[in-house]
Amino acid sequence: MTTDPKAPTAAGSGADATDRFKTDKAGPGADTPPERVDVLAREVLAAVHAIIRRHTVTYAEYNALKAWMIDVGETGEWPLFLDVWVEHVVEDVATEHRKGNKGTIEGPYYVPNAPDRGPRGSVPTRSGEPGTPLVWTGQVTSTDGRALAGARIELWHADANGLYSQFAPGIPEWNLRATFTADDEGRFEIHTVRPAPYRIPTDGACGRLIAAAGWHSWRPAHLHVKVSAPGHELLTAQLYFSGDAHNDDDIASAVKPELVLEPRPTTGGAGEGVAYDFALDPVRA
Ligand code: DHB
Ligand code: FE
Repeated sequence: MTTDPKAPTAAGSGADATDRFKTDKAGPGADTPPERVDVLAREVLAAVHAIIRRHTVTYAEYNALKAWMIDVGETGEWPLFLDVWVEHVVEDVATEHRKGNKGTIEGPYYVPNAPDRGPRGSVPTRSGEPGTPLVWTGQVTSTDGRALAGARIELWHADANGLYSQFAPGIPEWNLRATFTADDEGRFEIHTVRPAPYRIPTDGACGRLIAAAGWHSWRPAHLHVKVSAPGHELLTAQLYFSGDAHNDDDIASAVKPELVLEPRPTTGGAGEGVAYDFALDPVRA
């Protein structure tokens, strides 16, 4: 088999996502008390045991699982696996109490400290960046309606080929990644391009699970954001596009109706415009 060393692979993006996670998030470990580890670990194992009994799982199937789990680890695909099939429930539970905007999963491809663009500007792009130009205007407020001047909107998304800078090879470091800062009225205006639907890479261990189970591997096109302001809970969300074939069957189960945009063609231009605002919940006392 010939492989192009520059071609993006699941193993490549997966290994990069693993490295990034170790750098940014895997601190010395959560201070989880032993009683909680005991109950959670025991219940996870009991659920697995019950499935084995209910479905009469064989040694051949057990060994296939073992081989597959070893492979997920060796190719660095645990962040992909967990963010696609587990994170959405963690997110739901963590944000249940909120009155402001709905959020959704972060996914494996966030990088902090993307270049600053002020309240209005363009994300970094390559010359001739493919994709329909998109202008997004919005305002950040608190849940009581008060404008949040200086709120930060961190944006990152895939390109028109469904690839993320810093995880797929050959893309400039900060391509389609930027930080915007809301003006005195909490307003911002972002110029970017519409991302393409994203396909979980099929060449790796997660891809093999998808193929073996007869699933599809698509996520609908999406913009990732983190919106933050002092005294408010960080909002991590994704925005989707009305009409996308995979809004109803996202492999990562991360679409919510409140997160779907309705862009309109801009008059006289080749692009689209959309308005979408954020209301952030104050930090709980
Ligand atoms: C994955 C990729 C994404 O872009 C995303 O938003 C969520 C999950 C993944 O490959 O695991
Ligand atoms: Fe994504």
